[in-house]
Amino acid sequence: MLSGPNLNLLGEREPEVYGHHTLADVEAMVRERAERLGVEVRFVQSNHEGVLVDELHRARLDCHAVVLNPGAFAHTSVALRDAIAAIRIPVVEVHLSNVHAREPFRRRMVLAPVVRGQVVGFGAHSYVLGLEAAVHLARGGRG
Ligand code: DQA
Repeated sequence: MLSGPNLNLLGEREPEVYGHHTLADVEAMVRERAERLGVEVRFVQSNHEGVLVDELHRARLDCHAVVLNPGAFAHTSVALRDAIAAIRIPVVEVHLSNVHAREPFRRRMVLAPVVRGQVVGFGAHSYVLGLEAAVHLARGGRG
């Protein structure tokens, strides 16, 4: 489970947009669901594009799927787009907010063509839904 820039500030960052859950709260919610699904999850948050690229490369070696909240890189990062295209494991993109209902610049989603699917707009629950989608795909379900 990869989280990009500024998501370390969840809970204090624009709570009217992103809610009051901290990233630790989100991780606890995901861990609980992961246990019930019988899967292990590794959590990484970074504010740095290259670290996220490295983590996607690393995931291809020891993970069955990735749930990625790329933060603002969703709208800008060709490097993340290429990293996702380079690996075979499914990547599910998640966003807490409904990016389509916000500023026009957030409607440009450069990762969308290479991820297996997106979950947007359900607050912290987007991560849990993203996990369910990723497990479904990793277990051979259809995307
Ligand atoms: C976000 C949406 C992005 O547009 C924004 O830059 C973020 C958070 C979300 O989870 O809603 O940092 O990825």
